[in-house]
Amino acid sequence: MTDCQGDGEGTMSPMELFEKLNAQGEKVRSLKSAKAEKGEIDAAVQLLLKLKVDYKQMTGQDYKAGCPPSENLIMSNNGPAADDCDGEDLVDPWNVSASSTKGVDYDKLIVRFGSSKIDKELLERIEKVSGQRAHHFLRRGIFFSHRDMHQILDAYEKHKSFYLYTGRGPSSEAMHVGHLIPFIFTKWLQDVFDIPLVVQMTDDEKYLWKDLTLEECHRFTVENAKDIIACGFDVNKTFIFSDLDYMGASPQFYRNVVKVQKHVTFNQVKGIFGFTDSDCIGKISFPAIQAAPSFSSSFPQIFGGKKDVPCLIPCAIDQDPYFRMTRDVAPRIGLLKPALLHSTFFPALQGAQTKMSASDPNSSIFLTDTPKQIKNKINKHAFSGGKDTVEEHRKYGGNTEVDVSFLYLTFFLEDDEKLEKIKEDYTSGALLTGELKKILIETLQPMIAQHQERRKQVTDEMVQQFMTPRPLNYKF
Ligand code: TRP
Repeated sequence: MTDCQGDGEGTMSPMELFEKLNAQGEKVRSLKSAKAEKGEIDAAVQLLLKLKVDYKQMTGQDYKAGCPPSENLIMSNNGPAADDCDGEDLVDPWNVSASSTKGVDYDKLIVRFGSSKIDKELLERIEKVSGQRAHHFLRRGIFFSHRDMHQILDAYEKHKSFYLYTGRGPSSEAMHVGHLIPFIFTKWLQDVFDIPLVVQMTDDEKYLWKDLTLEECHRFTVENAKDIIACGFDVNKTFIFSDLDYMGASPQFYRNVVKVQKHVTFNQVKGIFGFTDSDCIGKISFPAIQAAPSFSSSFPQIFGGKKDVPCLIPCAIDQDPYFRMTRDVAPRIGLLKPALLHSTFFPALQGAQTKMSASDPNSSIFLTDTPKQIKNKINKHAFSGGKDTVEEHRKYGGNTEVDVSFLYLTFFLEDDEKLEKIKEDYTSGALLTGELKKILIETLQPMIAQHQERRKQVTDEMVQQFMTPRPLNYKF
Protein backbone atom coordinates (compact mmCIF):
# COMPACT_ATOMS: atom_id res chain seq x y z
CA MET A 1 0.00 0.00 0.00
CA THR A 2 1.86 3.00 -1.16
CA ASP A 3 -1.01 5.42 -1.22
CA CYS A 4 -0.62 6.60 2.36
CA GLN A 5 1.67 9.53 2.52
CA GLY A 6 1.11 10.47 6.15
CA ASP A 7 4.06 9.90 8.41
CA GLY A 8 1.95 9.54 11.53
CA GLU A 9 -1.75 9.71 12.32
CA GLY A 10 -1.24 13.05 14.08
CA THR A 11 -0.31 14.84 10.86
CA MET A 12 -2.78 13.12 8.58
CA SER A 13 -5.68 14.75 6.86
CA PRO A 14 -9.08 13.04 7.14
CA MET A 15 -8.66 11.86 3.56
CA GLU A 16 -5.28 10.32 4.29
CA LEU A 17 -6.63 8.58 7.35
CA PHE A 18 -9.53 7.37 5.24
CA GLU A 19 -7.14 5.95 2.64
CA LYS A 20 -5.10 4.35 5.39
CA LEU A 21 -8.24 2.73 6.76
CA ASN A 22 -9.09 1.43 3.29
CA ALA A 23 -5.62 -0.04 3.01
CA GLN A 24 -5.81 -1.62 6.45
CA GLY A 25 -9.23 -3.11 5.69
CA GLU A 26 -7.82 -4.57 2.53
CA LYS A 27 -4.87 -5.99 4.46
CA VAL A 28 -7.16 -7.69 6.98
CA ARG A 29 -9.20 -9.19 4.15
CA SER A 30 -6.18 -10.49 2.31
CA LEU A 31 -4.63 -11.94 5.50
CA LYS A 32 -7.88 -13.74 6.19
CA SER A 33 -8.26 -15.07 2.70
CA ALA A 34 -4.62 -16.17 2.69
CA LYS A 35 -5.35 -17.98 5.99
CA ALA A 36 -2.51 -16.15 7.72
CA GLU A 37 -1.53 -16.85 11.34
CA LYS A 38 -4.12 -15.90 13.91
CA GLY A 39 -1.71 -13.57 15.73
CA GLU A 40 -0.99 -11.68 12.56
CA ILE A 41 -4.66 -11.30 11.70
CA ASP A 42 -5.49 -10.15 15.24
CA ALA A 43 -2.77 -7.49 15.14
CA ALA A 44 -4.05 -6.20 11.80
CA VAL A 45 -7.63 -6.12 13.13
CA GLN A 46 -6.48 -4.25 16.26
CA LEU A 47 -4.81 -1.59 14.14
CA LEU A 48 -7.94 -1.35 12.00
CA LEU A 49 -10.09 -0.75 15.08
CA LYS A 50 -7.68 1.85 16.42
CA LEU A 51 -7.73 3.71 13.10
CA LYS A 52 -11.54 3.65 13.15
CA VAL A 53 -11.54 5.30 16.57
CA ASP A 54 -9.06 7.94 15.37
CA TYR A 55 -11.19 8.55 12.33
CA LYS A 56 -14.34 9.05 14.37
CA GLN A 57 -12.48 11.47 16.61
CA MET A 58 -11.08 13.44 13.71
CA THR A 59 -14.19 13.65 11.54
CA GLY A 60 -17.11 13.02 13.87
CA GLN A 61 -18.26 10.38 11.37
CA ASP A 62 -18.17 6.62 11.42
CA TYR A 63 -15.75 5.17 8.92
CA LYS A 64 -17.50 3.46 6.04
CA ALA A 65 -15.51 1.87 3.24
CA GLY A 66 -16.10 3.73 -0.01
CA CYS A 67 -17.54 6.82 1.64
CA PRO A 68 -14.76 9.36 1.93
CA PRO A 69 -14.90 11.94 4.72
CA SER A 70 -17.57 14.51 3.96
CA GLU A 71 -14.96 17.17 3.24
CA ASN A 72 -14.74 15.18 0.06
CA LEU A 73 -18.35 15.66 -0.77
CA ILE A 74 -17.10 18.55 -2.86
CA MET A 75 -16.82 15.77 -5.44
CA SER A 76 -20.34 16.57 -6.21
CA ASN A 77 -21.76 17.28 -9.62
CA ASN A 78 -24.95 18.76 -8.38
CA GLY A 79 -25.05 18.71 -4.61
CA PRO A 80 -24.84 21.93 -2.65
CA ALA A 81 -21.77 20.74 -0.76
CA ALA A 82 -19.54 22.36 -3.34
CA ASP A 83 -20.47 25.86 -2.29
CA ASP A 84 -20.03 25.07 1.36
CA CYS A 85 -16.33 24.52 1.10
CA ASP A 86 -14.86 27.93 1.69
CA GLY A 87 -11.68 28.58 -0.21
CA GLU A 88 -11.50 24.99 -1.47
CA ASP A 89 -10.99 24.29 -5.15
CA LEU A 90 -13.71 22.24 -6.75
CA VAL A 91 -12.37 19.44 -8.93
CA ASP A 92 -14.39 16.50 -10.20
CA PRO A 93 -15.06 14.94 -13.60
CA TRP A 94 -17.71 17.56 -14.37
CA ASN A 95 -16.62 20.74 -12.64
CA VAL A 96 -13.38 22.55 -12.13
CA SER A 97 -13.17 25.87 -10.40
CA ALA A 98 -10.47 27.41 -8.32
CA SER A 99 -10.76 29.84 -5.45
CA SER A 100 -7.65 31.80 -6.51
CA THR A 101 -6.70 33.58 -9.73
CA LYS A 102 -3.55 31.50 -9.82
CA GLY A 103 -5.80 28.52 -10.44
CA VAL A 104 -6.17 25.26 -8.58
CA ASP A 105 -3.76 24.64 -5.71
CA TYR A 106 -2.31 21.38 -7.01
CA ASP A 107 -0.19 20.63 -3.95
CA LYS A 108 -3.32 20.69 -1.83
CA LEU A 109 -5.09 18.49 -4.35
CA ILE A 110 -2.37 15.86 -4.04
CA VAL A 111 -2.94 15.74 -0.29
CA ARG A 112 -6.71 15.64 -0.62
CA PHE A 113 -6.73 12.98 -3.33
CA GLY A 114 -3.97 10.98 -1.64
CA SER A 115 -1.80 10.74 -4.77
CA SER A 116 1.95 11.40 -4.92
CA LYS A 117 3.90 14.31 -6.34
CA ILE A 118 6.05 13.70 -9.41
CA ASP A 119 9.31 14.70 -7.77
CA LYS A 120 12.86 15.05 -9.03
CA GLU A 121 13.67 11.47 -8.17
CA LEU A 122 10.79 10.11 -10.25
CA LEU A 123 11.70 12.40 -13.16
CA GLU A 124 15.25 11.07 -13.09
CA ARG A 125 14.01 7.50 -12.99
CA ILE A 126 11.71 8.08 -15.96
CA GLU A 127 14.69 9.46 -17.87
CA LYS A 128 16.93 6.59 -16.85
CA VAL A 129 14.45 3.84 -17.65
CA SER A 130 13.24 5.36 -20.93
CA GLY A 131 16.68 6.55 -21.98
CA GLN A 132 15.10 9.86 -23.06
CA ARG A 133 15.02 13.37 -21.69
CA ALA A 134 11.74 13.87 -19.82
CA HIS A 135 8.97 15.49 -21.87
CA HIS A 136 8.58 19.21 -21.14
CA PHE A 137 5.13 18.50 -19.64
CA LEU A 138 6.99 16.51 -16.98
CA ARG A 139 9.87 18.93 -16.58
CA ARG A 140 7.48 21.86 -16.13
CA GLY A 141 5.11 20.18 -13.69
CA ILE A 142 2.18 20.01 -16.14
CA PHE A 143 2.02 16.29 -15.35
CA PHE A 144 2.51 16.76 -11.63
CA SER A 145 1.01 13.83 -9.73
CA HIS A 146 1.01 10.05 -9.95
CA ARG A 147 -0.05 6.78 -8.42
CA ASP A 148 2.31 3.79 -8.49
CA MET A 149 4.54 5.06 -11.30
CA HIS A 150 7.54 3.57 -9.50
CA GLN A 151 5.97 0.11 -9.73
CA ILE A 152 5.52 0.54 -13.49
CA LEU A 153 9.19 1.49 -13.85
CA ASP A 154 10.37 -1.32 -11.55
CA ALA A 155 8.55 -3.83 -13.71
CA TYR A 156 9.69 -2.28 -16.99
CA GLU A 157 13.30 -2.46 -15.79
CA LYS A 158 12.77 -6.16 -15.30
CA HIS A 159 11.51 -6.41 -18.87
CA LYS A 160 7.89 -6.64 -17.84
CA SER A 161 6.05 -4.25 -20.09
CA PHE A 162 2.83 -2.34 -19.58
CA TYR A 163 0.15 -0.67 -21.68
CA LEU A 164 -1.33 2.82 -21.81
CA TYR A 165 -4.98 3.71 -21.42
CA THR A 166 -6.50 7.13 -21.92
CA GLY A 167 -9.79 8.45 -23.23
CA ARG A 168 -12.02 11.22 -24.39
CA GLY A 169 -15.65 12.11 -23.83
CA PRO A 170 -16.85 13.17 -27.30
CA SER A 171 -19.30 15.89 -26.35
CA SER A 172 -18.94 17.94 -29.53
CA GLU A 173 -17.26 17.94 -32.88
CA ALA A 174 -14.93 20.74 -31.86
CA MET A 175 -11.89 19.95 -29.80
CA HIS A 176 -9.71 22.67 -28.37
CA VAL A 177 -5.97 22.77 -27.73
CA GLY A 178 -6.46 21.78 -24.09
CA HIS A 179 -7.95 18.46 -25.19
CA LEU A 180 -4.70 17.60 -26.93
CA ILE A 181 -2.56 17.73 -23.77
CA PRO A 182 -3.15 14.13 -22.60
CA PHE A 183 -2.82 12.85 -26.17
CA ILE A 184 0.43 14.69 -26.92
CA PHE A 185 1.85 13.27 -23.72
CA THR A 186 0.48 9.77 -24.31
CA LYS A 187 2.05 9.75 -27.77
CA TRP A 188 5.40 10.57 -26.19
CA LEU A 189 4.98 7.74 -23.68
CA GLN A 190 4.05 5.34 -26.48
CA ASP A 191 7.17 6.32 -28.40
CA VAL A 192 9.70 6.19 -25.59
CA PHE A 193 8.43 2.98 -23.99
CA ASP A 194 7.28 1.34 -27.24
CA ILE A 195 4.02 -0.01 -25.85
CA PRO A 196 0.40 -0.51 -26.87
CA LEU A 197 -2.29 2.08 -26.19
CA VAL A 198 -6.06 1.83 -25.84
CA VAL A 199 -8.20 4.97 -26.19
CA GLN A 200 -11.73 4.87 -24.82
CA MET A 201 -14.27 7.16 -26.49
CA THR A 202 -17.06 7.48 -23.94
CA ASP A 203 -19.92 8.30 -26.28
CA ASP A 204 -22.20 6.48 -23.84
CA GLU A 205 -21.11 8.83 -21.04
CA LYS A 206 -21.87 11.92 -23.10
CA TYR A 207 -25.27 10.52 -24.09
CA LEU A 208 -26.09 9.97 -20.42
CA TRP A 209 -24.86 13.37 -19.25
CA LYS A 210 -25.72 15.71 -22.09
CA ASP A 211 -28.74 16.55 -24.16
CA LEU A 212 -27.49 14.64 -27.21
CA THR A 213 -28.75 11.70 -29.24
CA LEU A 214 -26.88 8.41 -29.48
CA GLU A 215 -26.21 9.08 -33.15
CA GLU A 216 -24.69 12.48 -32.40
CA CYS A 217 -22.43 11.07 -29.69
CA HIS A 218 -21.26 8.29 -31.96
CA ARG A 219 -20.56 10.75 -34.77
CA PHE A 220 -18.51 12.92 -32.40
CA THR A 221 -16.51 9.82 -31.51
CA VAL A 222 -15.49 9.37 -35.13
CA GLU A 223 -14.75 13.07 -35.64
CA ASN A 224 -12.73 13.32 -32.43
CA ALA A 225 -10.89 10.12 -33.29
CA LYS A 226 -9.54 11.92 -36.36
CA ASP A 227 -8.04 14.66 -34.17
CA ILE A 228 -6.56 12.02 -31.89
CA ILE A 229 -5.08 10.08 -34.81
CA ALA A 230 -3.64 13.37 -36.12
CA CYS A 231 -1.47 13.49 -32.98
CA GLY A 232 0.63 10.82 -34.67
CA PHE A 233 -0.24 7.54 -32.95
CA ASP A 234 1.14 4.35 -34.43
CA VAL A 235 -1.74 2.33 -35.90
CA ASN A 236 0.12 -0.89 -35.15
CA LYS A 237 0.19 -0.08 -31.46
CA THR A 238 -3.08 1.80 -30.92
CA PHE A 239 -6.69 0.69 -30.49
CA ILE A 240 -9.34 3.43 -30.34
CA PHE A 241 -12.82 2.26 -29.37
CA SER A 242 -16.31 3.65 -29.02
CA ASP A 243 -18.07 2.35 -25.90
CA LEU A 244 -21.29 2.16 -27.89
CA ASP A 245 -19.63 -0.30 -30.30
CA TYR A 246 -17.10 -2.16 -28.20
CA MET A 247 -19.29 -2.87 -25.15
CA GLY A 248 -21.53 -5.04 -27.28
CA ALA A 249 -18.75 -6.58 -29.34
CA SER A 250 -16.43 -7.73 -26.59
CA PRO A 251 -17.67 -10.32 -24.10
CA GLN A 252 -14.49 -9.99 -22.04
CA PHE A 253 -14.90 -6.23 -21.73
CA TYR A 254 -18.48 -6.56 -20.56
CA ARG A 255 -17.53 -9.23 -18.07
CA ASN A 256 -15.10 -6.83 -16.42
CA VAL A 257 -17.76 -4.12 -16.35
CA VAL A 258 -20.13 -6.47 -14.54
CA LYS A 259 -17.44 -7.53 -12.06
CA VAL A 260 -16.83 -3.91 -11.16
CA GLN A 261 -20.56 -3.25 -10.90
CA LYS A 262 -20.95 -6.10 -8.45
CA HIS A 263 -18.30 -4.69 -6.14
CA VAL A 264 -19.28 -1.03 -5.92
CA THR A 265 -22.36 0.06 -4.00
CA PHE A 266 -24.64 3.02 -4.67
CA ASN A 267 -23.35 4.51 -1.43
CA GLN A 268 -19.82 4.33 -2.70
CA VAL A 269 -20.47 6.09 -6.01
CA LYS A 270 -22.55 8.67 -4.16
CA GLY A 271 -19.55 9.34 -1.96
CA ILE A 272 -17.08 9.46 -4.83
CA PHE A 273 -19.10 11.21 -7.54
CA GLY A 274 -21.91 12.96 -5.69
CA PHE A 275 -24.71 11.13 -7.53
CA THR A 276 -28.13 11.65 -6.03
CA ASP A 277 -31.33 9.62 -5.98
CA SER A 278 -32.60 11.53 -9.00
CA ASP A 279 -29.64 10.78 -11.27
CA CYS A 280 -30.50 8.23 -13.93
CA ILE A 281 -29.24 4.72 -13.32
CA GLY A 282 -27.06 4.95 -16.44
CA LYS A 283 -24.88 7.55 -14.73
CA ILE A 284 -24.69 5.53 -11.57
CA SER A 285 -23.33 2.46 -13.32
CA PHE A 286 -21.16 4.32 -15.84
CA PRO A 287 -18.00 4.47 -13.68
CA ALA A 288 -17.69 0.70 -14.11
CA ILE A 289 -17.39 1.24 -17.87
CA GLN A 290 -14.59 3.76 -17.48
CA ALA A 291 -12.90 1.34 -15.07
CA ALA A 292 -12.91 -1.71 -17.38
CA PRO A 293 -10.16 -0.62 -19.84
CA SER A 294 -7.75 -0.51 -16.86
CA PHE A 295 -7.67 -4.32 -16.99
CA SER A 296 -5.76 -6.08 -19.76
CA SER A 297 -8.31 -8.91 -19.83
CA SER A 298 -10.80 -6.44 -21.36
CA PHE A 299 -8.78 -6.65 -24.60
CA PRO A 300 -8.19 -10.33 -25.40
CA GLN A 301 -7.38 -9.49 -29.04
CA ILE A 302 -4.41 -7.44 -27.80
CA PHE A 303 -3.23 -9.31 -24.73
CA GLY A 304 -4.31 -12.85 -25.59
CA GLY A 305 -6.36 -13.18 -22.43
CA LYS A 306 -3.54 -12.14 -20.08
CA LYS A 307 -4.95 -10.66 -16.88
CA ASP A 308 -1.74 -9.26 -15.51
CA VAL A 309 -0.39 -6.70 -17.97
CA PRO A 310 -0.01 -3.52 -15.88
CA CYS A 311 -1.87 -0.43 -17.05
CA LEU A 312 -0.72 3.19 -16.92
CA ILE A 313 -3.33 5.93 -17.33
CA PRO A 314 -2.24 9.44 -18.32
CA CYS A 315 -5.17 11.80 -17.65
CA ALA A 316 -6.15 15.17 -16.25
CA ILE A 317 -6.55 15.13 -12.48
CA ASP A 318 -10.34 15.57 -12.69
CA GLN A 319 -10.60 11.95 -13.91
CA ASP A 320 -8.97 10.62 -10.76
CA PRO A 321 -12.25 9.79 -8.94
CA TYR A 322 -12.95 7.11 -11.57
CA PHE A 323 -9.60 5.52 -10.99
CA ARG A 324 -9.65 5.79 -7.20
CA MET A 325 -12.76 3.68 -7.48
CA THR A 326 -11.07 1.34 -9.97
CA ARG A 327 -8.03 0.90 -7.73
CA ASP A 328 -10.26 0.20 -4.77
CA VAL A 329 -12.13 -2.59 -6.59
CA ALA A 330 -9.24 -4.14 -8.52
CA PRO A 331 -7.76 -6.36 -5.77
CA ARG A 332 -11.25 -7.51 -4.80
CA ILE A 333 -11.87 -8.88 -8.28
CA GLY A 334 -8.39 -10.35 -8.55
CA LEU A 335 -7.04 -7.76 -10.99
CA LEU A 336 -4.16 -5.27 -10.96
CA LYS A 337 -4.60 -1.67 -9.86
CA PRO A 338 -3.86 0.74 -12.71
CA ALA A 339 -1.08 3.31 -12.23
CA LEU A 340 -1.72 6.96 -13.08
CA LEU A 341 -0.02 10.12 -14.25
CA HIS A 342 -2.12 13.24 -13.62
CA SER A 343 -1.96 16.56 -15.42
CA THR A 344 -3.03 20.02 -14.33
CA PHE A 345 -5.79 21.72 -16.29
CA PHE A 346 -5.34 23.76 -19.36
CA PRO A 347 -6.54 27.25 -18.41
CA ALA A 348 -9.33 29.09 -20.18
CA LEU A 349 -8.26 32.20 -22.08
CA GLN A 350 -10.07 34.22 -19.42
CA GLY A 351 -7.86 32.94 -16.64
CA ALA A 352 -6.60 29.94 -14.71
CA GLN A 353 -9.64 29.80 -12.44
CA THR A 354 -11.57 27.50 -14.74
CA LYS A 355 -10.80 24.92 -17.34
CA MET A 356 -11.81 25.57 -20.92
CA SER A 357 -15.27 24.79 -22.04
CA ALA A 358 -16.10 23.47 -25.48
CA SER A 359 -19.42 25.32 -25.34
CA ASP A 360 -17.88 28.81 -25.05
CA PRO A 361 -16.03 29.56 -28.30
CA ASN A 362 -14.16 32.47 -26.74
CA SER A 363 -12.85 30.47 -23.81
CA SER A 364 -10.43 28.51 -25.93
CA ILE A 365 -8.46 28.05 -29.11
CA PHE A 366 -10.13 25.38 -31.22
CA LEU A 367 -8.32 22.97 -33.46
CA THR A 368 -10.42 24.36 -36.34
CA ASP A 369 -9.55 28.03 -35.72
CA THR A 370 -7.98 30.04 -38.56
CA PRO A 371 -4.75 31.99 -38.00
CA LYS A 372 -6.84 35.16 -37.84
CA GLN A 373 -9.22 33.75 -35.24
CA ILE A 374 -6.27 32.62 -33.15
CA LYS A 375 -4.78 36.09 -33.29
CA ASN A 376 -8.02 37.87 -32.43
CA LYS A 377 -8.95 35.55 -29.60
CA ILE A 378 -5.56 35.89 -27.94
CA ASN A 379 -5.42 39.63 -28.36
CA LYS A 380 -8.98 40.13 -27.14
CA HIS A 381 -9.50 37.47 -24.53
CA ALA A 382 -6.21 36.16 -23.12
CA PHE A 383 -6.09 37.27 -19.49
CA SER A 384 -3.06 39.43 -18.95
CA GLY A 385 -0.77 39.54 -15.93
CA GLY A 386 0.64 42.83 -17.18
CA LYS A 387 0.08 46.30 -15.78
CA ASP A 388 -2.54 48.73 -17.01
CA THR A 389 -0.20 51.25 -18.61
CA VAL A 390 3.10 50.86 -20.41
CA GLU A 391 4.78 53.12 -17.84
CA GLU A 392 3.60 51.01 -14.93
CA HIS A 393 4.45 47.80 -16.74
CA ARG A 394 8.00 48.97 -17.44
CA LYS A 395 8.36 50.00 -13.80
CA TYR A 396 6.80 47.01 -12.00
CA GLY A 397 6.80 44.24 -14.60
CA GLY A 398 4.16 41.60 -15.30
CA ASN A 399 3.03 38.54 -13.38
CA THR A 400 3.69 35.30 -15.27
CA GLU A 401 1.83 33.25 -12.68
CA VAL A 402 -1.57 34.52 -13.80
CA ASP A 403 -0.80 35.58 -17.36
CA VAL A 404 -2.62 33.18 -19.67
CA SER A 405 -0.39 33.84 -22.67
CA PHE A 406 2.63 32.90 -20.62
CA LEU A 407 0.85 29.84 -19.19
CA TYR A 408 -0.01 28.68 -22.71
CA LEU A 409 3.64 29.05 -23.71
CA THR A 410 4.64 26.72 -20.87
CA PHE A 411 2.48 24.11 -22.61
CA PHE A 412 3.54 24.72 -26.19
CA LEU A 413 6.91 26.42 -26.38
CA GLU A 414 9.34 23.55 -26.13
CA ASP A 415 12.54 25.59 -25.93
CA ASP A 416 13.39 25.93 -22.21
CA GLU A 417 15.89 28.75 -22.71
CA LYS A 418 13.50 30.85 -24.75
CA LEU A 419 10.77 30.35 -22.18
CA GLU A 420 13.08 31.33 -19.33
CA LYS A 421 14.14 34.48 -21.16
CA ILE A 422 10.48 35.44 -21.80
CA LYS A 423 9.75 34.95 -18.12
CA GLU A 424 12.65 37.16 -17.08
CA ASP A 425 11.78 39.89 -19.55
CA TYR A 426 8.09 39.90 -18.72
CA THR A 427 8.72 39.95 -14.99
CA SER A 428 11.18 42.81 -15.31
CA GLY A 429 8.90 44.83 -17.56
CA ALA A 430 11.18 44.68 -20.59
CA LEU A 431 8.58 42.62 -22.47
CA LEU A 432 5.11 44.10 -22.88
CA THR A 433 1.83 42.17 -22.87
CA GLY A 434 1.28 42.82 -26.59
CA GLU A 435 4.71 41.42 -27.36
CA LEU A 436 4.12 38.36 -25.20
CA LYS A 437 0.80 37.75 -26.96
CA LYS A 438 2.56 38.02 -30.30
CA ILE A 439 4.98 35.25 -29.31
CA LEU A 440 2.07 33.03 -28.33
CA ILE A 441 0.19 33.77 -31.54
CA GLU A 442 3.27 32.91 -33.58
CA THR A 443 3.69 29.67 -31.64
CA LEU A 444 0.08 28.53 -31.94
CA GLN A 445 -0.67 29.49 -35.55
CA PRO A 446 1.80 27.06 -37.16
CA MET A 447 1.06 24.39 -34.57
CA ILE A 448 -2.69 24.45 -35.28
CA ALA A 449 -2.14 24.72 -39.03
CA GLN A 450 0.06 21.62 -38.94
CA HIS A 451 -2.56 19.78 -36.91
CA GLN A 452 -5.22 20.69 -39.49
CA GLU A 453 -2.94 19.46 -42.25
CA ARG A 454 -2.37 16.12 -40.50
CA ARG A 455 -6.07 15.77 -39.75
CA LYS A 456 -6.89 16.23 -43.42
CA GLN A 457 -4.70 13.23 -44.19
CA VAL A 458 -6.75 11.03 -41.85
CA THR A 459 -9.17 9.09 -44.03
CA ASP A 460 -12.29 7.19 -42.99
CA GLU A 461 -10.41 3.96 -43.74
CA MET A 462 -7.70 4.96 -41.30
CA VAL A 463 -10.27 5.65 -38.60
CA GLN A 464 -11.78 2.25 -39.36
CA GLN A 465 -8.38 0.64 -38.98
CA PHE A 466 -7.64 2.26 -35.61
CA MET A 467 -11.10 1.30 -34.38
CA THR A 468 -11.07 -2.35 -35.44
CA PRO A 469 -10.42 -4.83 -32.62
CA ARG A 470 -7.20 -6.61 -33.69
CA PRO A 471 -3.85 -7.73 -32.33
CA LEU A 472 -1.29 -4.96 -31.79
CA ASN A 473 2.47 -5.09 -32.23
CA TYR A 474 4.39 -5.17 -29.05
CA LYS A 475 7.34 -7.07 -27.73
CA PHE A 476 6.62 -8.64 -24.35
N1 TRP B 1 -14.48 10.60 -18.95
C1 TRP B 1 -13.52 11.18 -19.83
C2 TRP B 1 -14.04 12.48 -20.42
O1 TRP B 1 -15.16 12.86 -20.24
C3 TRP B 1 -13.14 10.23 -20.95
C4 TRP B 1 -12.27 9.09 -20.50
C5 TRP B 1 -12.62 7.77 -20.50
C6 TRP B 1 -10.94 9.16 -20.04
N2 TRP B 1 -11.60 7.00 -20.07
C7 TRP B 1 -10.53 7.80 -19.77
C8 TRP B 1 -10.02 10.19 -19.84
C9 TRP B 1 -9.26 7.50 -19.30
C10 TRP B 1 -8.73 9.89 -19.37
C11 TRP B 1 -8.38 8.55 -19.10
O2 TRP B 1 -13.32 13.17 -21.07
